[in-house]
Amino acid sequence: MKKTIRWTLLALLGALVFIQFLQISKTNPAADPAQDYLATANPPEAVTSLLKQACYDCHSNLTRYPWYSYVQPAGWFLKKHIDEGREHLNFSVWTTYPAKRANHKLEECFEVVETKEMPLKTYPLMHPEAKLDDAQREELISWFKSEYARVETGSREQGAGNGEEED
Ligand code: HEC
Repeated sequence: MKKTIRWTLLALLGALVFIQFLQISKTNPAADPAQDYLATANPPEAVTSLLKQACYDCHSNLTRYPWYSYVQPAGWFLKKHIDEGREHLNFSVWTTYPAKRANHKLEECFEVVETKEMPLKTYPLMHPEAKLDDAQREELISWFKSEYARVETGSREQGAGNGEEED
């Protein structure tokens, strides 16, 4: 009996050591500032830092990989969140979204911050700077709401003008 336990533990330990060799890829896809949300929408400084702190690791190509991304299986879960996060919303390719899709994303952004779905619950455990208090949530919500309203009322198109001045 004792022997079985010892061998089981040893096998588990072996497996744990073995999976450390199965590292996730930590190479970010290229991030073109010309397509980036923050670079093009130019929100106030407070909003910019909140998005960088609380969203950009999963929703951009500028992911910072923490030490535990080197420890399996934690790295695998992290990779899954990053892949899925980028798939749903990638601030690094923001300008490639068709207008309608981009506006829908703005709407989703204030909704998920309002309902506290985002950032994902587990994320602030390892990233205390992403733990948003009510004031910070409100900051993000009002920014995204105003951007959403601005696009909805078509002021973006009007703002572009016709490029010609008549005298
Ligand atoms: C730890 C990774 C992680 C962080 C940090 C994170 N997200 Fe997400 N986000 C995800 C994943 C994974 C999904 C897709 C699955 C889901 O909806 O749970 C997602 C989905 C979304 C969606 C799309 C919802 C939908 O219905 O398609 C929006 C919008 C979003 N996140 C906004 C944000 C914002 C804004 C922040 C920062 C305040 C943020 N996320 C922080 C991982 C993250």
